[in-house]
Amino acid sequence: MHQQVRKAVLPVAGLGTRFLPVTKTVPKELLPVIDTPLVQYAIDEAQEAGIEEFIFVNGRGKNAIDDYFDHAFELETLLKERGKSDEWSLLQRLNPGPGKTAFVRQQEPKGLGHAVWCAKDYVGKEPFAVILPDDLVDADQGCLSQLIEVYNRTGGNVVAVENVPREHTNRYGVLDIGTTDGALVEVKGLVEKPDPSEAPSTLSIIGRYILLPEVFGHLDRHEKGAGGEIQLTDAMAKMIGSQLFHGLEFDGTRYDCGSKLGFLEANLAMALKRPELSDDVRKMMVTLLNE
Ligand code: G1P
Repeated sequence: MHQQVRKAVLPVAGLGTRFLPVTKTVPKELLPVIDTPLVQYAIDEAQEAGIEEFIFVNGRGKNAIDDYFDHAFELETLLKERGKSDEWSLLQRLNPGPGKTAFVRQQEPKGLGHAVWCAKDYVGKEPFAVILPDDLVDADQGCLSQLIEVYNRTGGNVVAVENVPREHTNRYGVLDIGTTDGALVEVKGLVEKPDPSEAPSTLSIIGRYILLPEVFGHLDRHEKGAGGEIQLTDAMAKMIGSQLFHGLEFDGTRYDCGSKLGFLEANLAMALKRPELSDDVRKMMVTLLNE
């Protein structure tokens, strides 16, 4: 029996420069796909996977994320008074509950590895999940739940991976692959953002990880990697050989909501799945395309 994964770290300190001007005042993690913030999709997926505690690594000027996970007493009271019980219930259901969220500041933007390291004392000595809310994954069984299922069987580190076009390897952490067993691949090595000509494969990490706490020992050194940043991938690479390390080609569709096109695609795809919207959205798209 492997130690249970109970905690998730959500790095949300990024400046969101690709979405300026809106991210001047609205954190990109609160940008809505239809009516629900990106970060809420991440929390829903984590809860489905059995995660109980959420550690947000936030940055200056993004307190709206903390507020989003608090009660909104005035609003909730008004909803109740006006008989809007569905809306009221929705807000109750989405709140992770008292004592279940922690917010820690990444005081300087030093990279994803540094952001995760900031959560070290909150995670302690147990396996944990990392979720990057930019990556929205639509799947029958949530992506994190798929990873945890593998972890419960094998133990060790498990990351969600997908094949990307070779010309895009310089956007991802890329796997050097050992033996494969269906959707499960042994990770022999990891390179952060390799040039397409040097990438060991096209199998790339997306924003879902199950990591052993030993990763903090490597992050402690604060070594800089690709782009002069402290990279999570580099610290993970150091665990290969001493800890089990797998990649899982997950079932589902991932939308890169860190890019405008991916974000738009996610909105359209999710709207097409909403019964109350899909017919009208379909018609709207046809009309727009024929104009
Ligand atoms: C980060 C990681 C990278 C991973 C990617 C997934 O990169 O450093 O290894 O493949 O997330 O979205 P970023 O998108 O922050 O540049």
